Amino acid sequence: MRILKYDVVVIGAGLAGERAAVEAHRNGCSVAILSLVQPRQSHSNAAQGGVQCSLDNMGEHSAGDDWKLHFDDTIRGSDWGADQDVVERVTSAAPRLIRELEYWGCPFNRTEEGKIAQRNFGGTSVWRAAFAADFTGHALLYAIDQEVMRHEIKIFWRVQVISLILNGAKVIGCIALDLRSGDLVAFHAKSTIIASGGTGKLFSESTNAINCRGDGQSLAYNTGRIPLGNMEAIQFHPTGMYPVWILLTEGCRGDGGVLRNAQHHEFMWDYAAKMGNLASRDVVSRAMMSEIRAGRGVEGPFGPHVWLDLTHLGAEKIKTRLRDVHDIARDFAGIDVITEMAPVKPVQHYTMGGIRTDIDCRVRGVEGLYASGECACWDMHGFNRLGGNSLLETIAAGFYSGTTASTEAGGRSASETDQKAIQDEYNIQVERIDTLIATDPKETSFALHDEMALLMTEQVGIFRTGELLKDAVNRLLDIRERSNNLGLSCKSCGRSLELEMALRIHGMIDLALIISEGALARKESRGAHYREDFPNRDDEHWLKRTLAHKRNGEYLPRLEYEDVVITHLPPGDRGYGEKPPPAAK
Ligand code: FUM
Repeated sequence: MRILKYDVVVIGAGLAGERAAVEAHRNGCSVAILSLVQPRQSHSNAAQGGVQCSLDNMGEHSAGDDWKLHFDDTIRGSDWGADQDVVERVTSAAPRLIRELEYWGCPFNRTEEGKIAQRNFGGTSVWRAAFAADFTGHALLYAIDQEVMRHEIKIFWRVQVISLILNGAKVIGCIALDLRSGDLVAFHAKSTIIASGGTGKLFSESTNAINCRGDGQSLAYNTGRIPLGNMEAIQFHPTGMYPVWILLTEGCRGDGGVLRNAQHHEFMWDYAAKMGNLASRDVVSRAMMSEIRAGRGVEGPFGPHVWLDLTHLGAEKIKTRLRDVHDIARDFAGIDVITEMAPVKPVQHYTMGGIRTDIDCRVRGVEGLYASGECACWDMHGFNRLGGNSLLETIAAGFYSGTTASTEAGGRSASETDQKAIQDEYNIQVERIDTLIATDPKETSFALHDEMALLMTEQVGIFRTGELLKDAVNRLLDIRERSNNLGLSCKSCGRSLELEMALRIHGMIDLALIISEGALARKESRGAHYREDFPNRDDEHWLKRTLAHKRNGEYLPRLEYEDVVITHLPPGDRGYGEKPPPAAK
């Protein structure tokens, strides 16, 4: 057995993971990053429009902005689902953290005075999103990755972490599969940070990259000790480019683009009288789907969609500020957005819930484990995340998780029983892989995945009902049962995509069950969780966070609820001038 020792091991090399690693290394720790892909291919790279940060650099467009306004917008966006102490921490730290990224070399767009430029975004009262054209995630990731290299932090990439190692209630590292050689490696760590991103690939239509499969959430849940928070809170981005579902940034509408139905009517003002095209994502997505349901969508060969119209913005603006959008529409849909409208439809985009942590990113239920970014729920976004707040969260939670994990690593030393705990977990994983290889498949993980992902898109989407959700839970239970019949057709124990998927599919189905069961239990509508049979927010009964716990020997989780932290802003109207969507016929 190969054992590698570090003070801090970070699982995931996106923005949150790399930012955490830099902070832990700055604090004097030895650090390793484990990643499925080369760090610059992490999904953070795909974030487009901007990062929220109250710099007030845009004159009348950002006048009066400060962290308190950013805080208010975030809480309204979350539909009062977020923890307000966390939101205060992040919004007040944002200007310092983003200026640090500028110092590290992130090429933000500039105002004429040379300040960081900011654009308008959904659900915000002023122009607040700092941006690098429409490749902000890419620019941030390259800047942080450069910093990782400057610190000479060790990166293991093309590795898949397949289990956490516990010694009692203490996490002491993880077991990883080297995806090039097929070897297992044990990482022994004083602190372990999970920063592995979201769960988009639980859905068949998603903006997310192939590596967003909830691996980190499954690792935590599988310990049987760690709750997942608000997993039913799934975000659907209004402008997925139909029918390939690549994101066309909210910055399109921030910079003046509008949504139109088949009659070319700019319908958003009918649904959100105050904010129109820039209401929060949950409101815009419901409005688009309502237009489609009412027969006012545009019929296309893959089903109906609506239009995103940028044609009035002009070539120069599009080619400078929205140049990736221009290229994506041309390359993947054959559309020139300077002269033609682009087909769009809401599509799964973000996982608000995740591994439940405290405000310092410590994972609940165990010691020695931390989580940050999209995989975590500390909880900054509640039931709807504002655009640009995820990039901010990655930087902030990366900083805080790296700080806490490295500080606490200093107070930990290896115990005499660690070696046995590592060997035991290693043996369990060897046996798990050997069994898969020795078994002939009656089911394949790829087919089970496709069945699950289609079901999630069709029945656990923007409009939910008790009937659809109950049926989804029953069908997922059947898929989960059938996943016990997996085996591998490829009997080599080296590099194998089949093995890689077989090792995660149970976890993915478990997460789909947690989302569906949580959505079924939550008998209200809040943010992105919209129940047609319970169309109103119900603060009296549901101003709470869902916590899903694994039950021994059961597929369905045990659900419990905890109060949301409210410090400054009591529940009220969200301020979009929102009208409820019409009831389904
Ligand atoms: O639309 C966008 O550019 C996405 C941003 C985000 O999800 O934060």
